[in-house]
Amino acid sequence: MARIIGVLGSTGSIGTQALQVIREMNGREENPANPHFDVKVLTCGHNRELLLSQALEFGAEILCVESEADADWLTAQLKLAAPDREVTVLWGEEGLVHAAGADLDVALIAVVGMRGLRPTLAAIEAGSDVALANKETLVAAGEAVMDLARERGVKIFPVDSEHSAIFQCLRSTGFDRRKELEKIILTCSGGPFRTWSKEALDKVTVADALAHPTWKMGNKITVDCATLMNKGLEVIEAMRLFHVGPDKIEVNIHPQSIIHSMVRYRDGCVIAQLGLPDMKVPIQVALTYPYRGFSETPRLDLTEIGALTFEKPRLDAFPCLGLAYSAAKEGGVLPAVMNGANEVCVYAFLTGRLGFSQIPEMISRTMDAFLKECGNKPVDRGLETVYEADGWARTYVHSELDV
Ligand SMILES: NC(=O)c1ccc[n+]([C@@H]2O[C@H](COP(=O)([O-])OP(=O)(O)OC[C@H]3O[C@@H](n4cnc5c(N)ncnc54)[C@H](OP(=O)(O)O)[C@@H]3O)[C@@H](O)[C@H]2O)c1
Repeated sequence: MARIIGVLGSTGSIGTQALQVIREMNGREENPANPHFDVKVLTCGHNRELLLSQALEFGAEILCVESEADADWLTAQLKLAAPDREVTVLWGEEGLVHAAGADLDVALIAVVGMRGLRPTLAAIEAGSDVALANKETLVAAGEAVMDLARERGVKIFPVDSEHSAIFQCLRSTGFDRRKELEKIILTCSGGPFRTWSKEALDKVTVADALAHPTWKMGNKITVDCATLMNKGLEVIEAMRLFHVGPDKIEVNIHPQSIIHSMVRYRDGCVIAQLGLPDMKVPIQVALTYPYRGFSETPRLDLTEIGALTFEKPRLDAFPCLGLAYSAAKEGGVLPAVMNGANEVCVYAFLTGRLGFSQIPEMISRTMDAFLKECGNKPVDRGLETVYEADGWARTYVHSELDV
């Protein structure tokens, strides 16, 4: 029987690749390792044309866009193109939360940024399993998300390639050996500026930052990769998903992006997951776990790759990674503050209001100001304080940008 899925953020990099995975799986014979999917929910921000064509192709029943005007446009287009179909078209954040709370077997959350938090909670509240691409959700409110998932008996499957790798490594012994885990080794391509001097980093343009050497992704995560904030977010994401402290997570720069991450056990054994960089693989793993279905992804031939290399991250040139470790160690709502500040800084950089090297400076200033404001006690009292801290950080950065 087909599984019912919602793809939130279906027009983005992860969303379109997820629909490609579903297209391929639905084209093959159905079996436990190759379930078929009924796509019930599709959502986007403003890309209404692509959402319309996805809705027509997959026969989705619930759609959501950012604005009311786009929702009206979609409704009119659907009436013309598929007059016999009943489709609910929602809009805005409330619409997104409603769409996420539909009756689904699995909700794939591929919305970018903090906007992903409320729909993730709504999907869990509704009892749907969650394939989670949106890392900002776990950074800002990971404890609340994981607690609610546990309470509701909902499974969270990581889509991020590194966390999918860790998830697979941790389960490779047949059952979970988390207590015997010594280190999680998160790999990182190093981004396009891995070898650049600090002086050269001051002159980075938006075009430079959007040219990632190994992965093709949305703009926000691509900039995060260039500053190494993406790896910082992933350290906190790993803490929440795998219930470990920051001291148990190490970052290795691995420019070829072939080893997607590793785990080391207390007997010294290291287990790694390898493959060519292709997000369709972790997406499919999240959708088929514990089975392994066929995938057309190009096969890894290590003799063609030749050499895999590793380096330590340059924390002096890329302070965002250090800031994330500080936020993780301090705990409470500081990760939410860092995440909110980072989101505003990235969009300010993309729109020419902030230089590349000013991103970590501004985030650091925001974190310091917040710590001062709360008397060095960034206590997390649940979701309300997370939203407050996120809002505080955004307001602070906006006011600094306006000076
Ligand atoms: N891309 C990757 O390879 C990758 C890998 C690992 C993890 N992730 C994580 O996955 C998430 C998505 O990344 P992405 O690269 O796929 O991003 P993306 O290409 O920018 O796509 C984001 C999706 O969210 C929608 N969206 C944006 N703002 C919205 C809003 N205010 N309300 C509702 N929907 C909104 C976009 O709609 P429009 O198209 O209409 O703007 C799009 O469908 C991020 O959290 C990222 O960190 C991505």
